[in-house]
Amino acid sequence: MIDFINQLPKTELHLHIEGTLEPETMFRLAKRNGIELPYTTVEQIREDYNFSDLQSFLDIYYKGAAVLIEEEDFYELTKEYLEKAHQDNVKHVEIFFDPQTHTQRGIPFKKVVEGIHRALEEARGNYGLTSRLIMCFLKHLSEEEAIETLKEALPYKEWIFGVGWDSTELGNPPQKFKKVCDMALSEGFITVNHAGEEGPAQYIWDSIKELHIRRVDHGVRSIDDELLLEYLRRSRIPLTVCPLSNIKLCVFSDMKEHVIKKLLNKGLCVTVNSDDPAYFGGYINRNFIEIWKALDLSKEEIAQLAKNSFEASFLSIEKKQQYYNEIDTQLEGIESASMLG
Ligand code: HPA
Ligand code: ZN
Repeated sequence: MIDFINQLPKTELHLHIEGTLEPETMFRLAKRNGIELPYTTVEQIREDYNFSDLQSFLDIYYKGAAVLIEEEDFYELTKEYLEKAHQDNVKHVEIFFDPQTHTQRGIPFKKVVEGIHRALEEARGNYGLTSRLIMCFLKHLSEEEAIETLKEALPYKEWIFGVGWDSTELGNPPQKFKKVCDMALSEGFITVNHAGEEGPAQYIWDSIKELHIRRVDHGVRSIDDELLLEYLRRSRIPLTVCPLSNIKLCVFSDMKEHVIKKLLNKGLCVTVNSDDPAYFGGYINRNFIEIWKALDLSKEEIAQLAKNSFEASFLSIEKKQQYYNEIDTQLEGIESASMLG
């Protein structure tokens, strides 16, 4: 099964580039940029990664991002992630970046976006790994600050496919960002939103109604609302679920309690993603392996999750069909091999 998971073509649709900052890279960049870290060893950093909820993670995550200063830093960070994604047989990525985490520290928007974009273009050339970039606004900041950030992004519109919202969910409902959302939509960006991670199912409804989202990031609290489940099933609005993240941030107490299999079997377009893999203990294939082990998923269910990842992406219908066929071929290969004994 592990080989099957590793070899499946897949997309990653919920990945914060700042969340791929491995402790080793954090040290290297801190040294290069003359920044003091409150740690002396990589082991010390990893020991600090014991979170009780989303906020306890965010506090550490924003501190880590302080080592990112130059365009080259954003480039190297992105390049290192894309190498790992390629090793995991990821064919397409839709990556979040949090410009406000950097512009608030005086780092120019230009350096952030140019570094990330350069690495994305290089991976397209080197591996045929395609990508889209999604700019996230931080929910704990004001709507006015989001509007300022949107204006800063306009010169880079060609490079940024959509906008989303991340950071503290509770207390920051979707309605807070209706105006900036309408501005982004009128500029031609698509929208997605982190909703129903710690917040209630109502925040998913509100994201659909008020922010016109094309995907729900996380969305696991949809399990509490039968009407919403039915709406998500019929509309096939995808959920970008992040299993290891949910365990690390105590959204579920144990992987055996995770609802991803239930959501899949109810016919929702659920996908598997790694969120902030440097902080949560694994990249995308590790996420697949952990849910397979805990929830006893079949090969067909794993293949469906991989197919869903293409369906949920912003790839062309032709590309999606090509990958569905590849996944079917791999599944059939496995089935005929097992019949032969
Ligand atoms: N939720 C909210 N904000 C975030 C996350 C997340 O999973 N990852 C990085 N910022
Ligand atoms: Zn996230």
